[in-house]
Amino acid sequence: MRILTVGGGGREHAAVEALYRSGAEIYSIMKNANPGIIRRAKAYKLVNERHVDDICEFAIEHDIHYAFIGPEAPLEIGLVDALENIGVKCAAPTKEAAQIETSKSFMRELVSKYNIEGNLEYAVFDNAEDTEKYLKTLTKEIVVKPVGLTGGKGVKVQGEHLNSHEETMTYVLEILDGTSGLDGLIIEEKVIGEEFTQMVFVDGKHLSPMPLVQDHKRAYEGDVGPNTGGMGSYSDADHLLPFIPREARDQALEILRKIVDAMNEEGCPYKGPMYGQFMLTKDGPKIIEINARFGDPEAMNILTILENDFLTLIKDMAGGKLREEVKFKNMATVCKYVVPKGYGTVPDPGHEIFVNEEGVHESGAALYYANVDMIDGKLFTGTSRSIGVVGVGETIEEAEQRCEAALAFIEGDAICVRHDIGKRDLIQRKIDRIKNILS
Ligand code: AMP
Ligand code: GLY
Repeated sequence: MRILTVGGGGREHAAVEALYRSGAEIYSIMKNANPGIIRRAKAYKLVNERHVDDICEFAIEHDIHYAFIGPEAPLEIGLVDALENIGVKCAAPTKEAAQIETSKSFMRELVSKYNIEGNLEYAVFDNAEDTEKYLKTLTKEIVVKPVGLTGGKGVKVQGEHLNSHEETMTYVLEILDGTSGLDGLIIEEKVIGEEFTQMVFVDGKHLSPMPLVQDHKRAYEGDVGPNTGGMGSYSDADHLLPFIPREARDQALEILRKIVDAMNEEGCPYKGPMYGQFMLTKDGPKIIEINARFGDPEAMNILTILENDFLTLIKDMAGGKLREEVKFKNMATVCKYVVPKGYGTVPDPGHEIFVNEEGVHESGAALYYANVDMIDGKLFTGTSRSIGVVGVGETIEEAEQRCEAALAFIEGDAICVRHDIGKRDLIQRKIDRIKNILS
């Protein structure tokens, strides 16, 4: 079975490894020369993942049957629609269905129209004057986001990134003046709680859950600093999280189920992995965002412990045939991303990075290359996250120790890691915090 993969990050390398284990013939499109993907691919092409025509040409040339698409950018411009037109079946949403991620107003309006639980108070604006008038009527704290895609970096939270009305208005004007603000901005009520990721596999109608994962979006240790694409993540052996009760997980799943049903009602059925970012608050789980793909790094946690055959899963999602519950090993995982210095603000790319893969694997960890380039046998950092390392163990503690042992085999002068991810201190703080919030 010939399968096209699109994307050159850690998430896509993890998907490629899972497909390779399934015996798929892999053909890959990516921007950067990811050595992990290249070594598994029968053929590959380095092109921008938004270049739909080049990708379709590559798919025709290699007579591709199915496609897995990692990032959101190609979904936004209709890569799935184009591939399906030439007979390639996709385990990913069409341009219309991908709006669940690519338009924050589409998502909030859909959830509101179908009376689905977990929505936030929100308002959408396309000009500064109305935004300012609205802001002056508010008593609660807010969050400001561009309506369109932001790569996880366009969200500013009052009390953290925005500390005065002037700062908020400066950001509002920045969004409305910039290209990211083409679709306007959304103001949401700020909610307090603990975040978790619930991802599900969807075939248009049916869904099957993945283990809960918690990502860490803040750039610096202690969960402070600017938002990033995600610095690392963990999942627990029971597929819950130490601070998320089963009931909250069930509520989050129910919300995703209702979103899948609502999308059917709207005539734009959703297929592919779907990502729900939730905040557990005293009033239950609230929707922070819905993404039209696997999370990155979250995909690395879950694909490392996936028991099902991933190729079959891709075929089932693409073909509307997902009937049975997908199985995962009862193991904990801790993923930490090695990133270039300055990632989150002004990254400093182009530095050599040295990896002892054997050492990593002997430590009980998996290694996924991300935004790096292999040039003449040497590995260089890009502007985004470089390498994901996933420790696997019976407990989060064991998985974390294995992850750290493996990280010692990756060296470079210009790299950083958030070592606190998955450590007992950080997790205990979250357990104490959620106890307070829920009591
Ligand atoms: P997003 O890219 O929408 O996931 O937002 C990035 C981060 O901003 C989230 O992981 C949250 O920590 C924070 N955030 C986003 N929306 C809200 C909200 N309505 N209330 C509180 N925090 C939020
Ligand atoms: N880990 C966050 C995301 O993939 O959007």
